[in-house]
Amino acid sequence: MLEKFYKDNKNTILHIDEDNIPTHIAIIMDGNGRWAKQRKLPRTMGHKAGVEALKKIVRECDRLKVKYLTVYAFSTENWQRPKDEVSAIMKLLVQYLRRELDELNKNNVVINNIGDTSGLPELCARELTNAYNNTKDNTGLVLNLAFNYGGRAEIVRAFKLMALDIKNGLLKEEDINDNLVSNYLYTKGMPDPDLIIRPSGEQRLSNFLLWQCAYSEFWYSNINWPDFKKEDLLQAIYDYQNRDRRFGKIK
Ligand code: FPP
Repeated sequence: MLEKFYKDNKNTILHIDEDNIPTHIAIIMDGNGRWAKQRKLPRTMGHKAGVEALKKIVRECDRLKVKYLTVYAFSTENWQRPKDEVSAIMKLLVQYLRRELDELNKNNVVINNIGDTSGLPELCARELTNAYNNTKDNTGLVLNLAFNYGGRAEIVRAFKLMALDIKNGLLKEEDINDNLVSNYLYTKGMPDPDLIIRPSGEQRLSNFLLWQCAYSEFWYSNINWPDFKKEDLLQAIYDYQNRDRRFGKIK
């Protein structure tokens, strides 16, 4: 077993087992608004700072050889926010993709969208498609940007696609099982998340990866997302490595 030593944010030593890094980490990037409010800044500044936190965490996941990182950036429910906040988040997405694409590509990262791109402003959809087309053959970290994503909408979409395939004679009812359903989701071909991280003190799933989280380990923290650092990620991974994952069995 390869073991490396890292210091966490309390300056204690964490023993991270590099052979037991979660394959798939998913993060609900929450607390941007509160972070901004605490600083008497507009909420959009919180989202801007959230992008900076994301950049650091992507780099750290890449360094740790995490295979999949899925980040919840804009939910199907977030359209109910004020128009200027929604458009600021859309702008940040476009900026992020334009500014980071080359470096991410150099680092062998695949940029993938999970969510309904058809409901996004044309420019966002175009930049997401462009980022995917430019990086799809990379073999490193897969960065799933959950944009216009909702777990229920994803499952409804899967039902509809299955119904269509049955109607067209491509699928038989008796072939429907867990694996087949997984293959109708945006995360087709990817393993379920091992670890779901939610900062900012909230302890709920908020319609994120509802099907895929059946056996995920959850990790919560009071830190708002813009303050989330690589040390917090290491702490989450350390805690994950000390969980007893039984998948319904007994040892
Ligand atoms: C949740 O915090 C955050 C969001 C709804 C948006 C997250 C968006 C980004 C980090 C920027 C865009 C992403 C990319 C990939 C470029 P909140 O606003 O609900 O915070 P609050 O609960 O404190 O109000």
